[in-house]
Amino acid sequence: MARVNVNQIRAMKLTGDKIAMLTAYDYSTARLVDEAGIPLILVGDSLGVVILGYDSTIPVTMEDMLHHTKAVVRGTQKALVIGDMPFMTYTISAEQALRNAGRFIQEAGAQAVKLEGGVTVADTVRRIVDCGIPVCGHIGLTPQSINALGGHKIQGKTQATAQKLLDDAVALEQAGAFAVVLETVPAPLAALVTKQIGIPTIGIGAGVGCDGQVQVINDMLGSFTDFVPKHAKQYCKLSDIIKTAVTEYLNEVKSGAFPTDKNSFTMDEAILANLTKTGCCQKQE
Ligand code: KIV
Repeated sequence: MARVNVNQIRAMKLTGDKIAMLTAYDYSTARLVDEAGIPLILVGDSLGVVILGYDSTIPVTMEDMLHHTKAVVRGTQKALVIGDMPFMTYTISAEQALRNAGRFIQEAGAQAVKLEGGVTVADTVRRIVDCGIPVCGHIGLTPQSINALGGHKIQGKTQATAQKLLDDAVALEQAGAFAVVLETVPAPLAALVTKQIGIPTIGIGAGVGCDGQVQVINDMLGSFTDFVPKHAKQYCKLSDIIKTAVTEYLNEVKSGAFPTDKNSFTMDEAILANLTKTGCCQKQE
């Protein structure tokens, strides 16, 4: 089965077909997301928070990302898988960025990479794209720069920062990015950027005027309970379902209600009878 490709994603902007992107970090979840028909799966460095328990994405390493990207690729047949380049893995030099982007494609089997930044990373994006690696941009609230931004603040509210968002989006398009994530920006600004550029915008906390939306799957399924971001909608509360099931299991193990014969294996009774006769082990002289 052929995977979705970047030309199909670009074409969705032209046809007005909204793009639904979701994160996934493991084989089983990726498989379900793929089977549900999500065309773009992001192995986000958000895994640092929702899977590894860090308080930001900053500690996430290339090895973490490759490990999880490989699992997601194994779990998918149709979706285009994007590997998220972690903090400081594409900003030291063009060579470093190319080497690491290449690892996502060659070692992990992803079809594209994502990196944070606009004008400042545009040359790097161009170099990666020139190597045949599709790049998704990410501007607005860029979590890897959380220390410089001073927290998870909405971006683009002033004349200067709104202009910067637009300039960043244009720079990424000109550098050859196939799409750009707009995170935590005012909805009218995201809608304006979406109209001004020719590549799809994928919003998270950026309103309905984007060409598509992306969500962190743990937020959407309600399995991450530390906090619920304003931009997230919980389509179910997996945390409650998991806790109920685990409590039931705990109680059944304690009471002996689990396992039943259905979960157990039988054996030849004669062998068992012989064992009972011979006992445990021969006594040492
Ligand atoms: O890491 C991530 O999951 C992301 C999305 C929130 C866009 O970058």
